Amino acid sequence: MRYANITGWGKCLPPSVLSNEDLATFLDTSDEWISTRTGIKERRISHVSTAELASLAAKRALAAAGLDAAELGMVILATACPDTLIPNAASAVQANIGAVNAAVFDLNAACTGFVYGLSVGTAMIRSGAMKKVLVIGADRIPYFLDYNQRDVSVLFGDGAGAVVLEACDEECGLLAEKLGCDGEARDILTARDSGTVRERFSGADGFFEVNFEGQEIFKRAVRGMGQAITGVLEKLALEPEQIDLLVPHQANIRIIDTLAKRLKAPPEKVIVNIEKYGNTSAATVPIALCEALETGRIKPGDKILMAAFGAGLTWGAVVLKWGSRVTPVSECSEELPPSDRTALEILTPWVNGCRAAAAKKAT
Ligand code: ACO
Repeated sequence: MRYANITGWGKCLPPSVLSNEDLATFLDTSDEWISTRTGIKERRISHVSTAELASLAAKRALAAAGLDAAELGMVILATACPDTLIPNAASAVQANIGAVNAAVFDLNAACTGFVYGLSVGTAMIRSGAMKKVLVIGADRIPYFLDYNQRDVSVLFGDGAGAVVLEACDEECGLLAEKLGCDGEARDILTARDSGTVRERFSGADGFFEVNFEGQEIFKRAVRGMGQAITGVLEKLALEPEQIDLLVPHQANIRIIDTLAKRLKAPPEKVIVNIEKYGNTSAATVPIALCEALETGRIKPGDKILMAAFGAGLTWGAVVLKWGSRVTPVSECSEELPPSDRTALEILTPWVNGCRAAAAKKAT
């Protein structure tokens, strides 16, 4: 039997920090409201493209695996925020990292994208079609937000995380998945007019209207991830207590706590970093996985449960068995180009644009 071991991991968080206090300078909100309702204290705002964030996370993952990019057979970039639709963002990553022999594509399952990507990458290896696959989750949701809406614009941040999958014979890597989507509820979370649905030459000004029904998303997130977790545990005949670590999508601390409670998982078994980065969409799970490794919370042979949900409304859960190595083979010393702007300075033109668009609509 062939398996797909995770042999490398890396993350990339842009340096500019946007605190809750920063948001309160232009939104009617407060650190107290945001932290108690969501668990978020700050998030990062990127001065570089999605592909640049993804590329650095990928280079770090390749270094951790001790692999040359030319050895990759496939690059899967899970993102809902490609820099261009044509060509795909994965081709920019391929060029940046030198994955000259890889097939590359973007995968859009919003916040569930990385979990979907892990499943696809593993299947390619298990079928024998590929030997080495890079799976990246990278997003810049703050670019799409409506900064007139205080409930949605405080939740997201930018970031990227990546893993290298390699074929092996020993039982490890992704053991099973349960993936799905509640398409009938797709309208409760949308960046309306962000694709060809927008009438061409309509004179529209680049403002995406965001529809976000927070409480409904909350309920469906708990239900969707709950059913995914039950499904994947059943497939493997595992009891919740047999899971060593839960790496959940970081959308809201109250959603994470609800899941942990259902699984009877104590805090030491749950990875939480939402306070530092907010919801980085497809990047939350691989970033949290990297931090779990960096802080020594993963041991060889651990059973790891990952669960996520996102726009669509997509949802999914996977169970992994970690391999024998929990330390990187080597490290990549590269950094992003320095930013000469604060997070607030990066955001200001978008905030002003949203205000102007709302004012125009009101007249
Ligand atoms: N600051 C201050 N007050 C606020 C803010 C804010 N940022 N946002 C909303 N409020 C106010 C509301 O106006 C409302 O006031 P009112 O009672 O006077 O009308 C009050 O706070 C309560 O609002 P609710 O919407 O009921 O707040 P709730 O407790 O439901 O929390 C939240 C809102 C945080 C958005 C929650 O619904 C949530 O987390 N939903 C899920 C979000 C999520 O998971 N997003 C990620 C999905 S997207 C993805 O992963 C791709």
